[in-house]
Amino acid sequence: MTDPERQNIESSLHETRVFPPRPAAELGMSHWVVDGREDYREQHRRAIEDPERFWGAVASELDWFEPFSRVLDWKAPDAKWFDGGVTNVCHNALDRQIAAGHGDEVALIWEGEPTPGGQPEVLRFTYRELHAEVCRFARALDALGVKKGDVVTIYMGMVPELAIAVLACARIGAPHSVIFGGFSAQAIVDRVQDASSQVIVTCDGSWRRGGVVPLKANVDQACATLEAKGHPVRDVVVVRRVGNDVDWHAGRDKEWSDLVADQAPDRAPEPMAAEDMLFLLYTSGSTGKPKGIVHTTGGYMVWTYFTARATFNLLPDEGQVYWCTADIGWITGHSYILYGLLPNRVPTIMYEGAPNAPDEGRFWEIIERHKVTHFYTAPTAIRAFMKWGDKHVTGKDLSSLKVLGTVGEPINPEAWAWYHRVIGRERCPIVDTWWQTETGGHMLTPLPGVTATKPGSCTTPMIGVDAAIVDAGTFREVEPGGGGLLVIRRPWPGMLRGIHGDRQRFVDTYWHNDRGYYVAGDGARQDEDGFFWIMGRVDDVINVSGHRIGTMEVESALVGHPAVVEAAVVGMPHEIKGTGIAAFCTLEPHWAAKFDADPKAVTDALRAHVAKEIGPFAKPDALRFADGLPKTRSGKIMRRLLRDVAAGIDGHQDTTTLEDRGVLENLRACQVY
Ligand code: WT7
Repeated sequence: MTDPERQNIESSLHETRVFPPRPAAELGMSHWVVDGREDYREQHRRAIEDPERFWGAVASELDWFEPFSRVLDWKAPDAKWFDGGVTNVCHNALDRQIAAGHGDEVALIWEGEPTPGGQPEVLRFTYRELHAEVCRFARALDALGVKKGDVVTIYMGMVPELAIAVLACARIGAPHSVIFGGFSAQAIVDRVQDASSQVIVTCDGSWRRGGVVPLKANVDQACATLEAKGHPVRDVVVVRRVGNDVDWHAGRDKEWSDLVADQAPDRAPEPMAAEDMLFLLYTSGSTGKPKGIVHTTGGYMVWTYFTARATFNLLPDEGQVYWCTADIGWITGHSYILYGLLPNRVPTIMYEGAPNAPDEGRFWEIIERHKVTHFYTAPTAIRAFMKWGDKHVTGKDLSSLKVLGTVGEPINPEAWAWYHRVIGRERCPIVDTWWQTETGGHMLTPLPGVTATKPGSCTTPMIGVDAAIVDAGTFREVEPGGGGLLVIRRPWPGMLRGIHGDRQRFVDTYWHNDRGYYVAGDGARQDEDGFFWIMGRVDDVINVSGHRIGTMEVESALVGHPAVVEAAVVGMPHEIKGTGIAAFCTLEPHWAAKFDADPKAVTDALRAHVAKEIGPFAKPDALRFADGLPKTRSGKIMRRLLRDVAAGIDGHQDTTTLEDRGVLENLRACQVY
């Protein structure tokens, strides 16, 4: 456990405030989708006792080309949901709205990064317009020879074409693999290769605080490496966004604008079996190799549609405008910018840029400009705004807000209270949503109008979720108040169906028990009211600004640099990021001499190297150098001791198994870079 996690538990243990739900009318909404505690209990019970009937009814609210014959076929760890059913997620997101007469309503609002001193560019797409753009690009993919089942890699900034590309893939049945635009060329190589993907959709570059992220150059570099590895990429499609100079590989590279120019604005949605793959999304685990999480069509579609509506109280026809600040490169963006929102017919905002560019008022201006009713962001952003000060918020008209959400990491009660007071003006319910890339959608979360909230707790399970805290050894449920592993005891529609190409890792990582429980990898406890409090990861994964990073990935990046002989990476408390990255390295003798002469040159080189191998967001916040790392007699690095050193505390831990105590003293004394 890292120190912020410990602090969080400390403050959450002392947290006693309870905020009861209030009437929907107070927030100008006609009703709560889940109508109070009793309705929730009843739906939760029905969904668990009779998933066939419950989820069958929810699924039937959406269109199926062929009806499903069986709702759930479960033999742990393999679930088939809506077997026999044939549908298309893109059809349900767009065509279904158009057919019901809503084609001219706004589906997607896009706001670009404002140029210095300039106005932000805003584009609005109705369902009909978005449908036309998606169909054009779907046809472009057809023309490139992309077939159902071919994985299309998408590595773009937050431009409308990103949403269009994702939906076009869903339309033609080509699973997308979106790689967050902050990842490096090397990260692209690993993911493209693992997915055997032949097509990459990218941008010339993307804007980030007025600077250019050279996306196309990263793709070029990745393609060169892939070529050398015998895995040539066939097509690279390029959207022009920033107008930077890019190299052009004739034959391989194609302009997006050329490809769509003459395409007709219609393309039939591919009939997809419920268990056909919808997408792959890579996420970090406890080994160095990212896992390609597999989500399929029917279950994911139903789960994101249902959970988005329940958690946010989405009501079409009531002027709602929903904004999730995540990047589509992460699961939050997949599920709660696009897939969960479009079928619910509430306009969804997608923004390009950063919270503090051109200034720290960006978020609040977006809320004011678009009269945002639903705002969903991460604790790290909330903490950053707290630090920047209330002055950026005061004077902004946030009166449109109705429901606030948070996601990605435990929210400390102080940040929760600020969010509630300064942003929510003490009116808006806050939904603290716990879930994972693997779960597809919300698993533990308050429902507005239903759940009393406690700052720092993600409260109670979503309808249909059978969550429990079990002892890590016996897998038996622990007494209320006790900590243990968070598990989900029954299947749910949005669950992952596998790790691409690695059955064994899927079984070992999530299902390592004979009860058929899904093991989330988080530690948690339940209080006397049955509320869940997440305590943090129990594996070697850390959560940095809501981004999951495997400590081994950072370690292998570091030892990949010639200077580093050995490296150990742990989480450390970080005021804004929640958890920061602390790295301990031993240096190769030549480099150690270099380091003595010019430490900055070496630390800069190491940080740059990690940025190159993984991405800038994985750069260590604190680097320490020593002659040795604390190890057991059998040679295992004692990470718990390193966590204390990184946190600057003496945890008075048992050091009897430590081989050489001097090592620890040296580490405590050494300078932090
Ligand atoms: C891990 C999943 C789910 C989308 C964003 C992250 C942590 C997520 C919460 C929350 C406490 C949370 C967990 C989880 N986490 N939401 N509300 N409270 N912790 O997705 O990259 O798959 O990471 O994020 O540790 O296991 P992800």
